[in-house]
Amino acid sequence: MYRLTCVYCGEKYRPDEILYTCRKCGHLLAVEYDLSRVSIRPEVWRKRPLSVWRYRELLPVTIPPVTLQEGGTPLYHLKRIGEEIGVPKLYAKHEGMNPTGSFKDRGMTVGVSMALQLGKTTVACASTGNTSASLAAYAARAGIPAVVLLPSGKVALGKVAQALMHGARVISVRGNFDRALEMVQELCTSHGLYLLNSINPFRLEGQKTIGFETIDQLPGVPDRMVLPVGNAGNISAVYKGLLELKTLGLIDRLPMMTGIQAAGSSPVVRAIREGLAEVVPEESPETVATAIRIGAPVNGEKALEAIRKTGGTAAAVTDSEILAMQKDLARKEGIGVEPASAASVAGVRKLVDSGIIDPSECIVCVVTGHLLKDPETVIRQCESPTEIDADLPSLLSALQWS
Ligand code: F0G
Repeated sequence: MYRLTCVYCGEKYRPDEILYTCRKCGHLLAVEYDLSRVSIRPEVWRKRPLSVWRYRELLPVTIPPVTLQEGGTPLYHLKRIGEEIGVPKLYAKHEGMNPTGSFKDRGMTVGVSMALQLGKTTVACASTGNTSASLAAYAARAGIPAVVLLPSGKVALGKVAQALMHGARVISVRGNFDRALEMVQELCTSHGLYLLNSINPFRLEGQKTIGFETIDQLPGVPDRMVLPVGNAGNISAVYKGLLELKTLGLIDRLPMMTGIQAAGSSPVVRAIREGLAEVVPEESPETVATAIRIGAPVNGEKALEAIRKTGGTAAAVTDSEILAMQKDLARKEGIGVEPASAASVAGVRKLVDSGIIDPSECIVCVVTGHLLKDPETVIRQCESPTEIDADLPSLLSALQWS
């Protein structure tokens, strides 16, 4: 009921071909369903638990999936921050509540299931951290080996810990993420490993369910969805999924897709601001939000389409704006996220301040990864615990209570 289609020239491929880019023009491929033959009844969807697999008619997996019960993440109303910024209808979809603590699990349940469906026995990725943690866990669940390439010294501690503990072969590359991604592509081509970066069209199918769940939870279509952008896979995936719902007549409009990048790593923002047809890579991306420290986003052209076709926008936020919002989310709303995730809400603040976002909009920010992913950045921002002798007077004195 589906095939692979080049997003650029439209060339079609069989769904069981192990192919990530078009043989004719080299652009990325997408899963294209014959939507006229897909039968979906929303009342049937709503009877199933909120999860990636609620939406299985719009997913490519036909075998029993490799699952750790991903999806079904909370949608929180950001009452205090919303009032402070001046957008009362502000929500956060907390993807850090997935099994390995990031939205990547939605992609990996589908991607690793597809690896098995296609008969592949070893999986691989390059990663700024979360993809590797997720792939390692899902490969373990499937009982197959995983190889992950990380940019040396630039991956948050929690993520490396996860990849190691789940038993992946963890390789630290002296180079940035963009170089690691080129290397893993070469490795997969030469040695037949199954590549699970976001150039894999099946993995992105799982991630589109963020949009589906949002509409079921809100309920309805928000005016705007705001996502942090690194390799630009997630924003493209959510847009693709919502477009499918619209084509099926299940929703009547699309949210304005809005991408937020870190100021030191913002090629998509530049392309939007300057009206460029393509994303021009940045040589040396730098940001405290290491998850989105990416200069050459492979899904860039898809993200430009998502943003432009929905009347959305893109904005850059500084590291200090990101860290301030991480703290606000933690202290004013009780929501613990990693720096890259806070970028989406920091971006909303900036776009409201500059008059681009209308205060009456209903806005859903995707917060992509959990606070515990990057404990070192947290510790650097907070005061150390006060150490005291083990008696009550010392405790009262430390608390400055009498
Ligand atoms: N937020 C977090 C926490 C991420 O880990 C990533 C990407 C993004 C946002 C951006 O998503 O790449 O689809 O635009 N992390 C990848 C990784 C690159 O390797 O874990 P994107």
